Amino acid sequence: MSDAPLVLGIETSCDETGVGIVRGTTLLADAIASSVDEHARFGGVVPEVASRAHLEAMVPTIERACETAGIALRDVDAIAVTSGPGLAGALLVGVASGKALALGLGKPLYGVNHLAAHVAVDQLEHGPLPEPCLAMLVSGGHSSLLRVEDVTAGVEPLGATIDDAAGEAFDKVARLLGLPFPGGPHIDRAAASGNSVAIDFPRGLTARRDMERHRFDFSFSGLKTAVARWVETQQRAGIAIDVNDVAASFQEAVCDVLTRKALDAAVTHGIEDILIGGGVAANSRLRAMAVERAEAKGIRVRVPRPGLCTDNGAMVAALGAELVQRGRAPSALDLPADSSQPITTVVA
Ligand code: KG4
Ligand code: ZN
Repeated sequence: MSDAPLVLGIETSCDETGVGIVRGTTLLADAIASSVDEHARFGGVVPEVASRAHLEAMVPTIERACETAGIALRDVDAIAVTSGPGLAGALLVGVASGKALALGLGKPLYGVNHLAAHVAVDQLEHGPLPEPCLAMLVSGGHSSLLRVEDVTAGVEPLGATIDDAAGEAFDKVARLLGLPFPGGPHIDRAAASGNSVAIDFPRGLTARRDMERHRFDFSFSGLKTAVARWVETQQRAGIAIDVNDVAASFQEAVCDVLTRKALDAAVTHGIEDILIGGGVAANSRLRAMAVERAEAKGIRVRVPRPGLCTDNGAMVAALGAELVQRGRAPSALDLPADSSQPITTVVA
């Protein structure tokens, strides 16, 4: 048996109750219970509903993960849990569970940053992270460009969204088009049969005048408004809307800006590897466009498989294992859940 640490990771920052188990960079189990269906009719995640669902799902999900991994809880070397950022009540359920396990088993507890975990998860699939790498994290709550030297030591934020997150834009535009929540996968699917140059939607913060202050920042709220206006105008004129064309043109605008800025940041900072993570990294057009544009500049792109891009417990376990392996100090047992934990704090 290898001496790589066996780590159990818990994720509850949003609507996914995730429990992952890894040995070093080997994934043994990735159990998920999602409350997404309970939020669908509200068009967004309802924090109280999410917290309650985490409470109900926690123990069965831990049991399922142990069973899949073929381990007993007492075998684990450490517990890792997302301590932030995320929904306060939802995080609290995970943090309390992590504390209970750590205390009961007499094992160290690592309260980790959700975004750093989205970066670390790629090690489970593609091996050790290149140092440095440029991470682009695009999810329902975040859109950031980060320079990562050592994911356990901290990351340097280069840019972020100044309004909506990329995933939020997907969700809002999907709603406008009458597609279900969460909208990303539905837009992705509709776009596959649409024309991406049918409508010329705006590319936020790419004008020359924005380059000085917002070169590596994103803005998606203008794009969302542009889509709303376009749909409204068509409807008023009695013209039927081709949902596939709108989805494809919108998706093209988002992916164009994301890949352009990520490459610009990598080239400017002399970084040769880009890592894409977060739920929107599951987008098929984003993956294809990033690879194509990066190749043209001699830059490599790593994207975990879609199931590891969206929130899961394996990513937390992956970061936890890396922390143990690098000998980082664990968290105190009075660790708080911090809904706005800064990206610079990898372990709380
Ligand atoms: O990382 P994640 O699971 O949760 C957050 O931390 O937010 O990301 C969820 C987001 C949602 O906004 C969802 O619409 C988006 O990721 N998403 C996608 C796709 N799959 C999920 N967006 C575009 N294309 C997809 N295929
Ligand atoms: Zn996430």
